[in-house]
Amino acid sequence: MGRMDSLIAEMTLTEKLGQLTMTAADYAVTGPVVTPLSEDAIRSGIIGNLLNLYGAEATRRIQKIAVEESRLHIPLLLGFDAIHGQRTVFPIPLAEAGVFDPTAWEATARMAAEECAGDGLHMTFAPMLDVSRDPRWGRIAEGPGEDPFVGSAIARAKVRGFQSSSLADVGAVAACAKHYVAYGAVTAGREYAATDMSEGMLREVYLPPFRAAVEAGVASIMPAFTDLNGVPLTANAFLLQDVLRGELGFDGVLVSDYHAVAELLNHGIASDLAEAAALALKAGLDIDMMSDGYRLGLPVALERGLVAMADIDAAVRRVLTLKERLDLFQDPYRRGRTDAGMTAQSRALARDVGARSLVLLKNGANVLPLAARKIALIGPLADASSEMRGPWGGAGRPEDCVGVLQGLTEAGLDVRHAPGVAIETDDVSGIAAALGLCADADAIILCLGEALLMSGEAASRAYLGLPGRQQELADAVFEKAAGKPVIVVLFSGRPLAVPDLVSRSDAMLAAWFPGCDAGHAIADVLTGKVSPGGRTPVSWPRAVGQIPIFFGERPSGRPFNPADHFTSHYSDVENTPLFPFGYGLTYGDFKLSNLRVEPGEPLTVKVDVANHGARAAEETVFLFLNQKKPGVTRPVLELKGFGKIALTPSDQGTVTFTLPPTAGRAELFVGPNADFRSMLSLSI
Ligand code: NOJ
Repeated sequence: MGRMDSLIAEMTLTEKLGQLTMTAADYAVTGPVVTPLSEDAIRSGIIGNLLNLYGAEATRRIQKIAVEESRLHIPLLLGFDAIHGQRTVFPIPLAEAGVFDPTAWEATARMAAEECAGDGLHMTFAPMLDVSRDPRWGRIAEGPGEDPFVGSAIARAKVRGFQSSSLADVGAVAACAKHYVAYGAVTAGREYAATDMSEGMLREVYLPPFRAAVEAGVASIMPAFTDLNGVPLTANAFLLQDVLRGELGFDGVLVSDYHAVAELLNHGIASDLAEAAALALKAGLDIDMMSDGYRLGLPVALERGLVAMADIDAAVRRVLTLKERLDLFQDPYRRGRTDAGMTAQSRALARDVGARSLVLLKNGANVLPLAARKIALIGPLADASSEMRGPWGGAGRPEDCVGVLQGLTEAGLDVRHAPGVAIETDDVSGIAAALGLCADADAIILCLGEALLMSGEAASRAYLGLPGRQQELADAVFEKAAGKPVIVVLFSGRPLAVPDLVSRSDAMLAAWFPGCDAGHAIADVLTGKVSPGGRTPVSWPRAVGQIPIFFGERPSGRPFNPADHFTSHYSDVENTPLFPFGYGLTYGDFKLSNLRVEPGEPLTVKVDVANHGARAAEETVFLFLNQKKPGVTRPVLELKGFGKIALTPSDQGTVTFTLPPTAGRAELFVGPNADFRSMLSLSI
């Protein structure tokens, strides 16, 4: 009998179920508090895994109870949400996706893993891989944006970054890809609502990032809370067993989302906790997070014959195997030797990736980089350092964050600041003071947008304009500006539908939430120290009524033709997005030419890029494909590659892509974004 077999043979039912239970401590609140954590429960083996506790001292103390005071000395598995950083908060994932650089994606995950490990953690509930085409959904902030190719590239980079070359490494943590699957398509963008879609759509758009995570060796996966086509993922045997474990070959641990097993009762597919627990276990779910469903329900389910001890043992084996892979049996205290804090190196990475994630949406008359030195800095997000963290601040401390006011001041600009209004309240009494700053300034920077908790979990919105009275403030400033440039820095966890703000401003920077070094990163771009290089990984709607809006639509039999009324269009808004996927300006001036294909398998696609501008900058180039297949329509564009090239003025280079063989007729499109008008094309 192997070590694992003898351990399982020795375990009581209570101890087994303890290994399948994950309970929350209160260092962070990420869901309803259902079961208070008790140290006695750890001592007696009732709880074998925890979330929401971090820090070297705290984790060591609690681990000591499990290892030294429980009967079988099995170490705890400690997990936490390091969605965009642990102590060092990086840009929100949506912003980071727009960097289009797998090296950067991996580097921030590596740093987060080191910090998690320093904090005594073994697992992080990341990467979040939910493709979403609906900016009403607040969790779009946490994910890769609208495209499965991007989501897959992020999945590979993040799993490598978190898990390092071996899970046993002292700085490695188990990644948990989530939320499997199609959570990003909740009905009408409303959080926790059901999803319904064809299997074709599921496999083409929502599944690929999870496939990529599995291929990269992800240690665990979290099923979504949601119902997909009538079966909640927590109990979805087809998607968990047949597809994930069977077809994709995933052999790691499935951890439920918070309280999701008990919520099967609300879904109406189980009549009590025992039935809910049995459905989830039978579907292949290993760990029940925060439901007490396995602990209380499975003993009853066993008696009723709904599950067998072998089902429980299989799940226990997977959990213990993960603990073994993390080297916890050998040395349960190897992580968490020193408390993780920000370092000069981690701050430098946050500043670099932060700056590279900013998307320059407009730069009329090249007002940026700033020539002006006297700045009126207006708006509720100008001096809002703690907001810069975005919706999942990890264990980042608000006092470690740098806001725009500090960043611009430290860059040597002469800055006068007034908020004008708050982010969400109705009080407009501060607008007059803000306008008062305009007369004496050379340029006005308006920092507007959402509060950090307006995106993320449970933060769906039906209106995607500026919250509170910010539009009123912006209108007043535009009127008062009298020819002085007005530059909008827009903070948000999602694309906002703000066409008027775009047209009335002289320049606009989508800052998303850039993380703890936001102020420096934004100052670097506004002053020209760094050329903006971020691209939006999601289409921006002109109006909420266009949602879902994305570049990978299937063709219409009546494509829009302005000369023909009976073609696909809205009568009150254009079909096109406010900004297409991939959009973002730089301080260079790039031209693409000479798109060519070199035969072979895979096919090599090349395009020349020249910088005709006066400044060094980095260009991002996308490769799209339009395939024609008999009998089935294909999206008008499918992303197949992205590349970046840094060029000094008058310099020229080549971006090379490789393309796997495609069956049938196809056309290639290469360009700086998903707008057909900006692309070169070639039939293959
Ligand atoms: C609920 C969220 O949906 C999930 O993403 C997160 O990992 C858990 N809470 C734990 O905080």
